[in-house]
Amino acid sequence: MTQSRTPQTRAGTSVMAGKGVYNEHSQPQHVAGEDGVPMLQRAAAALPPHALERITIVDYGSSQGRNSLTPMSAAIDTLRERVVAQEPISVVHTDLPANDFAALFETLQSDPHSYLRDRANVFAFAIGRSFYERLLPGATVSLGWSSITVHWLSAVPCVLGDQIFSPLAGPQQRADFARRAADDWRRFLGHRLVELRPGGQLVVVGSGADEQGRSGAEGLMELANAALQTMVADGLLAREDYERMVLPTYYRTAEEFTEPIAGDWPDGTFALEECTQTDLADPLWQRFAASGDTAAYAASAAGFLRAFSEPSLFAALAQRRAPSEVAALADGFYERVRVAIEQRPEQARCAWRLVLMRIAKRA
Ligand SMILES: C[S@@+](CC[C@H](N)C(=O)[O-])C[C@H]1O[C@@H](n2cnc3c(N)ncnc32)[C@H](O)[C@@H]1O
Repeated sequence: MTQSRTPQTRAGTSVMAGKGVYNEHSQPQHVAGEDGVPMLQRAAAALPPHALERITIVDYGSSQGRNSLTPMSAAIDTLRERVVAQEPISVVHTDLPANDFAALFETLQSDPHSYLRDRANVFAFAIGRSFYERLLPGATVSLGWSSITVHWLSAVPCVLGDQIFSPLAGPQQRADFARRAADDWRRFLGHRLVELRPGGQLVVVGSGADEQGRSGAEGLMELANAALQTMVADGLLAREDYERMVLPTYYRTAEEFTEPIAGDWPDGTFALEECTQTDLADPLWQRFAASGDTAAYAASAAGFLRAFSEPSLFAALAQRRAPSEVAALADGFYERVRVAIEQRPEQARCAWRLVLMRIAKRA
């Protein structure tokens, strides 16, 4: 096992699969976002009057936007009940520079569920910059939203050798990831604290962990890791390439999420208004349970895995190999995953843990 390799730098590698692929294969993330909508509506309803002028809503980590349509529509409609039709509402979507922003704008323009349809005086913008940096001028954001994003770390703290997923790593490596995640979360919150108006609110739907640090997707990720190991054994993937492959994610427990807010955050400027935990219903599994169609289930679960993992897992290879070679390796890997899921569908069933938080900047 390799524990001491130089961590890969990975600017831009936490993005989702491009060309609109993430939009097509992110139904579990969509369901997670829907779980947070009532909390976002409560946040919109709780804004003080001075936060209702020149309203700006920010969607931190939007990806290609389809999963943002329902929450943004719900927030706008709740705010519209409180402000006159002439009051403009701006929606700012942010993501990493390498995000597929063309797919985002196309979604906002053409999707029948776009919040821009049938809503007057609503304006959409986008920012391509990491949310671990300042994104907007101080005290300009009324409402913030971030769904299934903050488990993506600012960098990989260490490679994992014979694993690709931090919940399955050894204690030392997990501790490295936990430290990075704690720093990142404080950084994320610190910037949002500056950006929010006094009385402004931030809702975070976090991909979380149980007390043992397990995300609920360990079965799927073990299966994926085993598929990579068979590629190494078959001579298709170099061992040293495999050992560099890692997802830059960490799944925080509810305590890890709330500690900086409930604890010693400077001046008590943040208030944790709500925090709930739930297990995400797996929509892919539910469809399989209804249809019994193993082949369709395997294709959808492999497609889901590919849409969120391919750019990160294959980034290290892209530095050393031709794009066509990397693409062929990725095709081969996700095909093996698909076949393995078809053989053992139960192992790919996920019960992602969610931690939902509503955080207010004190007025
Ligand atoms: C699983 S997707 C979630 C997208 C969308 N919020 C949803 O609910 O479907 C995670 C998103 O977070 C973005 N992301 C990861 N790290 C980021 C960072 N440091 N700054 C901004 N966005 C980031 C990724 O590019 C990706 O679009």
